[in-house]
Amino acid sequence: MSSTLFRTKRVEQSILDTEEPEHALKKSLSALDLTVFGVGVIIGTGIFVLTGQVAKNNAGPAVALAFVAAGVACGLAALCYAEFASTVPVAGSAYTFSYASLGELPAWIIGWDLVLEFALGTAVVAVGWSGYVRSLLDNWGWHLPAYLGGREAASGFGFDILAAVLVLVLTAILVVGMKLSARITSVVVAIKVTVVLIVIIAGAFFVNGANYKPFVPKPQAVEAGGNLKAPLIQLMFGWAPSNFGVMGIFTAASVVFFAFIGFDIVATAAEETRNPQRDMPRGILGSLLICTVLYVAVSVVVTGMQKYTRLSVDAPLADAFKSIGHPWYAGVISFGAAVGLTTVCMILLLGQTRVFFAMSRDGLLPRFFSRVHPRFRTPHRPTILLGVVIAIVAGFTSLSELAELVNIGTLFAFVVVALSVIILRRTRPDLHRAFRTPWVPVIPVLSVCASLWLMLNLPAETWLRFAIWMVIGFVVYFLYGRSHSRLAQEQKSGAAEAAPPPDGTTR
Ligand code: ALA
Repeated sequence: MSSTLFRTKRVEQSILDTEEPEHALKKSLSALDLTVFGVGVIIGTGIFVLTGQVAKNNAGPAVALAFVAAGVACGLAALCYAEFASTVPVAGSAYTFSYASLGELPAWIIGWDLVLEFALGTAVVAVGWSGYVRSLLDNWGWHLPAYLGGREAASGFGFDILAAVLVLVLTAILVVGMKLSARITSVVVAIKVTVVLIVIIAGAFFVNGANYKPFVPKPQAVEAGGNLKAPLIQLMFGWAPSNFGVMGIFTAASVVFFAFIGFDIVATAAEETRNPQRDMPRGILGSLLICTVLYVAVSVVVTGMQKYTRLSVDAPLADAFKSIGHPWYAGVISFGAAVGLTTVCMILLLGQTRVFFAMSRDGLLPRFFSRVHPRFRTPHRPTILLGVVIAIVAGFTSLSELAELVNIGTLFAFVVVALSVIILRRTRPDLHRAFRTPWVPVIPVLSVCASLWLMLNLPAETWLRFAIWMVIGFVVYFLYGRSHSRLAQEQKSGAAEAAPPPDGTTR
């Protein structure tokens, strides 16, 4: 049994699969497209919404250090991702990489986990986007009824109509084709980066040094009774749950980690890249570096403009400008944030459909989903199915409930990818690696430790929800994927050919 659970797909086979005409995606992306793609998805709800929340509740001005901590963990993971993306340049990211190195069951676990990351991530960002758009509409005097403003705005029934419509429109764009969406992405990314630079440059003139004191606020005990909401690490060691202080920085890091999600999605587009061996590592590391520098600068400026205790949790960047009497800047920032979150949502959705596509092509999910559209050459079936499901989820769920679940799923994927680098170096040393992770196994081991550390700083209830999702995944695998996978079918037909005929004669 263990031999079937850990059967691996040969790397060469993964690459060959992408060349079957019926299942082939168009190769059109360059390193610059990938970097734009990366920045397009990385800068989003994390910096525009979560910065204020964690500064106010967990870390104070030291939120900048939380961004550094999360950025270091992502940098280590990126070095591992880049090696895999340049070795196994096929759709599906960590899922494909682990199928080639760890085996079918671990690959399924990762694929299932990525479905959670991307689908819920898309929903979270769509809800964040809708908040900014509503705030802009309010400025212009147009008000949506509360029941169309989502769960948090309504007291009874609430459906976030704007978030749902956004997901459906983006789904249509993705069905029509990759190139079109990449072009739209470039324009939107330019607007978003400009707005972030406005915050940094204009905001720097309004920094008041007194707002940085204390830079690391003293630890504060959390009210009793919220044990499931406390970080797992605090419960494991029996510490009284607290915010702020040094541990508060790590709690903040495990939340603002959401702001970095996306560089891994660049890897999911490997199959659509012209020269993945050279362009993939450039795209991943380049976009991560740009974003880390911008995040640290934004958080230093914003906590310098306004005392952390007074930052707003809905639109902290815009509201910091309002607080110093510059509503015009606030309007521009809100507009840029709303525009920018659109690309984040679209690329998360794209990553999602590509993982689903790769799992279907391997037979772990029905093969029906991996036939590409005859004209657009896009995996239209999973795109439409998932787009509709995510639109419903985005319409009915609240942002805060989901963001931490997305983080734990992503960090888990990072752990698996880092382990895979070490394993594949031993099992397939012969493979050509256009990009090699430096100092193996030191960097992958550090990456595993950093990701696990951030996971442990997430609330216990997030771990519980994650465990439930994974149990459902196991059930689906054992009821469907294990017997329907391509490898299972090949093993069966191989065994039938090798078996002696029933009359006992030899062939
Ligand atoms: N990193 C993306 C964001 O912050 C997912 O919205």
